[in-house]
Amino acid sequence: MQDNLFNDPREQIAQLSDTLRRYEQAYYMHDSPLVSDAEYDRLFKQLQSLEAEHPHLLSHDSPTQRVGGQAVAAFSQVTHALPMLSLGNVFDEAELKAFDARCKEGLKTDTVEYGAELKFDGLALSLRYENGSLVQAATRGDGAVGEDVTHNVKTIRNVPLKLIGNGVPSVLEVRGEVLMMRNDFAGLNKRQAANEEKKFVNPRNAAAGSLRQLDPKITAQRPLTFFAYGIGQHSLSAIPNSHSETLALLAHYGLPVYQLPTLCASAEELLAVYAEIGLQRDRLPFDIDGVVYKVNNYAQQAVLGFVSRAPRWAVAHKFPAQEMQTTLLAIDVQVGRTGVLTPVARLEPVFVGGVTVTNATLHNETEIHRKQLMVGDTVIVRRAGDVIPEVVQSVTHLREGDYRPYTLPRLCPACGAATEQDIENEGVQIRCGNALNCPAQLKQGLWHFAQRRAMDIDGLGDKIIDLFVDLGWVHDVADLFDPAVLNVERMSNLDRFGEKSASNLLAALEAAKMRPLARLLYGLGIRHVGESTARDLASTFGSLDALHSASLEALLAVPDVGTVVAQSVLDYFAKPAAQAMLARLQSFGVAPPAQVASQNTAHPLFGKTVVITGTLPTLGRDEAGDKLRAVGAKVAGSVSKNTHFLLAGDAAGSKLDKAKALGIEVVDEKWLLSILAS
Ligand code: IVH
Repeated sequence: MQDNLFNDPREQIAQLSDTLRRYEQAYYMHDSPLVSDAEYDRLFKQLQSLEAEHPHLLSHDSPTQRVGGQAVAAFSQVTHALPMLSLGNVFDEAELKAFDARCKEGLKTDTVEYGAELKFDGLALSLRYENGSLVQAATRGDGAVGEDVTHNVKTIRNVPLKLIGNGVPSVLEVRGEVLMMRNDFAGLNKRQAANEEKKFVNPRNAAAGSLRQLDPKITAQRPLTFFAYGIGQHSLSAIPNSHSETLALLAHYGLPVYQLPTLCASAEELLAVYAEIGLQRDRLPFDIDGVVYKVNNYAQQAVLGFVSRAPRWAVAHKFPAQEMQTTLLAIDVQVGRTGVLTPVARLEPVFVGGVTVTNATLHNETEIHRKQLMVGDTVIVRRAGDVIPEVVQSVTHLREGDYRPYTLPRLCPACGAATEQDIENEGVQIRCGNALNCPAQLKQGLWHFAQRRAMDIDGLGDKIIDLFVDLGWVHDVADLFDPAVLNVERMSNLDRFGEKSASNLLAALEAAKMRPLARLLYGLGIRHVGESTARDLASTFGSLDALHSASLEALLAVPDVGTVVAQSVLDYFAKPAAQAMLARLQSFGVAPPAQVASQNTAHPLFGKTVVITGTLPTLGRDEAGDKLRAVGAKVAGSVSKNTHFLLAGDAAGSKLDKAKALGIEVVDEKWLLSILAS
């Protein structure tokens, strides 16, 4: 790029502005940057200094003018040239069919073309362009009068300050939605937490709070995004015939249109689109709350007209709500495997995000204080996608009486021992100090040991564990294998067991004795030793004894093991109680086969990175992972350009999409089994 092609500053400014706009378009609309950020910044600064030298040449739609606005004391009001309407809703198939029938009846025809598009879950916004320049941005307000948020909207990077393309009309009002991308929302909340400021409940609230800032410098730090879905007043000379053509035209002018509507010829087709979008919902980069159906043809829209403040030619088909109100009935306290006391909300059952929610973790005391929760409160519960349900806040104005902050018990609710406090980064953690004798910790520890990903002891579920601990039979994981503790005679005397189930459990325990070392290590629940660290330790040391006698240096030499993990392993093996327990485990025949990383570099899977997704026909995912690792492959959790193969089963979701997009080879279980057999 040559910088001084033109000596006329007016030309230079025009040229630089155009170039920067083109770069912004490519970056924000098409996700395909044309130049490096540094090059963009350099040209931007150049434009800034030219404008500073020649202030009379500064135009309000210059790329430098996104954050120039001053704070205001209040928003001024804007009367919309054409009212901003709302939409009627349908919630099920019958209501949708009724909408379709009404349209057909009103149009006296059996053939209506509809466009189906996303219902963005943000805030409506009207952008007014005059002679191609953004002159005003207004919120919906009551539909007739909104608020002037021009200064704030100028900071939204994908809102063009100047339209491009040919045939830009002298007046064009663009209607659309302001929202916050999920990624941006997560980042913002992280920053809010780091600055000890209140987190936002959801992207929509964050977008609303950010748009309605009096100081545009604050809005500029809030990553907002805009998508157009229609037009208001305009002076287009060649008026498009349909809604979908209009959106295509808006895109041609450089306005962000997320995608063109899917054209449908019947209610059945609309329902199919609704179902399809429902499946994609969680994978979209932003929240939607439904699908909007619009009669596509403008002449037909005109015939149908409006009823009160909503068009008769459009309707919103809503998805099940992801946020609902319910009552916080109680706060129970659970004691975890490591003794941490976790408060759990017991809720009046509520249907949210497609499931009935009755409990939700509240994490810790700090979190409860942050959300100002009190038993008896009406609370908002959110369940978005496959994210675990969360109590997001209390509806405090519905509370009778004063707020009294909740405190966790200072004695362990399971064993009565005194608790200790740890300051963790998520807040204060309260921990039962009675690691050796707290029944709750023991039960959780046994469950952790027996779970599928660890020793995989079939039939040893939480009810049976509770029973064995409450009977005083089992005091640690070694007791499970002690023939004097668990045997057919003793167990079949219990109400819960017949002879058959007793011998099944003993057989499962017998099988578990030969589980790979990595699973045993993970199952022991050594602090900071998760599944992947357990695998690294197992493949480096090969046996329990070798790990037991490992030095700090040897531990630190293991990939991904740092001082915290290494020290935790040393501490664990230094405890006499642990040593005695491990010796008993070994004496009962728990003998994990040595598990050293495969050295067979000739194996076709050696050193290859594989991601597993979906349900495989015969192998469990863990089992497939074990088999892959045994031949020296690496099993990764997410698809990237470094992935060699995606092993996909049924109902493979976003990982399959991503692998396809990246051109990664997708293989199935049959392929894996044959390559392992060869
Ligand atoms: S069209 C004349 N299309 O939903 C029709 N609205 O309940 C006016 N919304 O306030 C709206 N996505 O902010 C339309 N693709 C979409 C939309 C959409 C979200 C919002 C809009 C409006 C509300 C209506």
